[in-house]
Amino acid sequence: MARYQHLVFVCSNRRPRDNPKGSCAPKGAQEVLGLLKQAVHSRGFKRNIRVVESGCLNCCNRGVTLVVQSAERELGETWYTGVNSTNAMELFESHFIHQRVYEPLEEDF
Ligand code: FES
Repeated sequence: MARYQHLVFVCSNRRPRDNPKGSCAPKGAQEVLGLLKQAVHSRGFKRNIRVVESGCLNCCNRGVTLVVQSAERELGETWYTGVNSTNAMELFESHFIHQRVYEPLEEDF
């Protein structure tokens, strides 16, 4: 079984437009997923980082939501909300290249 340094769960749940909870799919979840997966491959992190699609992570009105589970004790589990195709690469650089939580999008529970 593969062990990764980081597991990234990206919510791609879709609800009807009139649902007051909102959802991540209409906010660009597939684009975020694609960008992160592409970055993992192009930067040579295939063995270290696994990006997967997930169901609802229960931060619906603040999506796109993703959670990163990191083997490094300092990073642990980090939740991000408001991820989009514009800020996804900044998050990637910060969290995965510099090993620092990307604070502008961090959700503190
Ligand atoms: S729909 Fe994405 S967190 Fe609920």
